[in-house]
Amino acid sequence: MSTDTTSQQLKKVVPQAEDFLPLLGTDFVELYVGNAKQAAFYYQQAWGFQPVAYSGLETGRKDSVSYVLQQGKIRLVLTSALQPEGDINRHISQHGDGVKVVALWVDDATKSFEETTKRGAEPYMEPTTREDEHGKVVLSGIHTYGETVHVFVERSQYDGPFLPGYKKLEKKFQTEPVGLKYIDHMVGNVGWNEMNKWCEFYAKVMGFAQLVSFDDKDISTEYTALMSKVMSNGNGRIKFPINEPAEGRKKSQIEEYIDFYNGAGVQHIAVATDNIIETVTQLRDRGVEFLYVPEVYYDTVLDRVGEIDEDLAPLKELGILIDRDDEGYLLQIFTKPVLDRPTMFFEIIQRKGAQSFGKGNFKALFEAIEREQESRGTL
Ligand code: FE2
Repeated sequence: MSTDTTSQQLKKVVPQAEDFLPLLGTDFVELYVGNAKQAAFYYQQAWGFQPVAYSGLETGRKDSVSYVLQQGKIRLVLTSALQPEGDINRHISQHGDGVKVVALWVDDATKSFEETTKRGAEPYMEPTTREDEHGKVVLSGIHTYGETVHVFVERSQYDGPFLPGYKKLEKKFQTEPVGLKYIDHMVGNVGWNEMNKWCEFYAKVMGFAQLVSFDDKDISTEYTALMSKVMSNGNGRIKFPINEPAEGRKKSQIEEYIDFYNGAGVQHIAVATDNIIETVTQLRDRGVEFLYVPEVYYDTVLDRVGEIDEDLAPLKELGILIDRDDEGYLLQIFTKPVLDRPTMFFEIIQRKGAQSFGKGNFKALFEAIEREQESRGTL
């Protein structure tokens, strides 16, 4: 279920005096994985991502290999090591497969680096220009929570398939996209009592603001074993909810993540669709596994969220969740972890006015599970 459960209002983003870090969008998300070739096949076959670019031995890269896949505006980079030493192997040994780079598309990667590092960001990559026959790209980078980094990508003078050093990737094997459009938000799990520290990092170093909560008091129910705040950049294109574990009746999923990831990292990537019923039907038919939603969730859901455009039957059949805020409603569903360790998963989300993140589902799901337990006499 969603763990960025603090329902937030986008419209109340605190205006910044000056957006010193204008972000045009998410450029790519890079995962370090044990076997990039097979991961690429998974994202193509099961998720409908299209092959875009490749870098490896055939392009003169000796120590590692990357496959780039795209669907809508979502670009995934899957990277594996070809040699026993190095940072990629160490990262995988420590964390399992996981997100290393959340790359942000900017007009000026040099200025982005200067503005963030002078505000306290730890440098990851000094501004670097890379060129090939398609033009030039400037990259720079800073560290964020755990071993995750942000890379700033300036690509206005580049028209190649991805970045210099990559060649176009073509596959005879084709798959249809499933309707994924763009990254709606990306959630970070951080350690005990570290949420505020990292929210302050995004505020101070990157000029983000916290989306103002209209119902903070609802967070602290007896069910909720985590805390969450949502940070957004000035134009609202980049939204990073940050979770920390909190004491609850049971070990929270955040704590489990931190144990298996060995620290802070990206917990889930929420991807947007215009037709969640169609997208989830396709994903399920291709083998993507979603979290189980007890049928009793649907007994009362319309009492909670009111009228919706969709028939309830297909939502119930697929296990799609519904939540409402004062601007509209949203439909969402969560996959099981997509890696061996119980760490990263995906969310599919369709917004119908709502700008929040599905907080109401957190409590509703727990209550549905408890109603089932009650019916079995095991509560
Ligand atoms: Fe989410």
